Amino acid sequence: MNDPHPIIVVNLKANKSSEQMAAWLDEFSEVLQSFQGTIVVCPSFPILTITHPKIEEIKKNKSINIHLGSQDVSQFEQGPYTGEVAASQLKGLCTFAIIGHSERRQNFSENQETLTKKVKNAKNAGLEPIFCVQDQAGEIPEGVTTVAYEPIFAIGTGNPDTPENADQVAAVLKQKRDVSILYGGSVTPDNIRLFTEKENIAGAIVGSGSLDPQNLIKIIHNSI
Ligand code: PGA
Repeated sequence: MNDPHPIIVVNLKANKSSEQMAAWLDEFSEVLQSFQGTIVVCPSFPILTITHPKIEEIKKNKSINIHLGSQDVSQFEQGPYTGEVAASQLKGLCTFAIIGHSERRQNFSENQETLTKKVKNAKNAGLEPIFCVQDQAGEIPEGVTTVAYEPIFAIGTGNPDTPENADQVAAVLKQKRDVSILYGGSVTPDNIRLFTEKENIAGAIVGSGSLDPQNLIKIIHNSI
């Protein structure tokens, strides 16, 4: 990418208690230097409210373009859906929402129809979807402007895709819609730049590499 403003999405998955997240945020904000790109921190739902003020503080004190994101939204709007979190409940708290992560497609049988509803609800609530696809055949719902290419073989395995292949897949996906493409799957401080320097890749999603805030900071700073 020639534009030196990468987007780094931090996917903490079902990790961190409230106490652990508070410690993570303290360490993260202490070590984070100036950064020209965008950072999106996505903790699990119960951690969002304690993370929000800290993110606002970092944004203000360090002039960093940092936002809060959710890891999912419900396909339903507010109502009798026990255990669900409606997109409209995240309004004012989150700016982004990851939708269609392969772990949700696999473990919760989310299909294209469900995901299209989720995208619609997220957009209606003013959330920017980060829509995940696993390969170049992935369908991208209308209204999506940020797509994450996350090949299943690369997620949490230490076996990333090659930057060349990721760039090619990103080029194919961009032909379908006018979208920015992020790469996700075993991103590390050593390989991040190999992805973000590619023409069609605008940033990355970081899972396991984000659990240690020091490691995440290296990824963020090495992405430019
Ligand atoms: P990983 O996960 O960085 O642990 O490979 C990425 C993701 O699932 O978003």
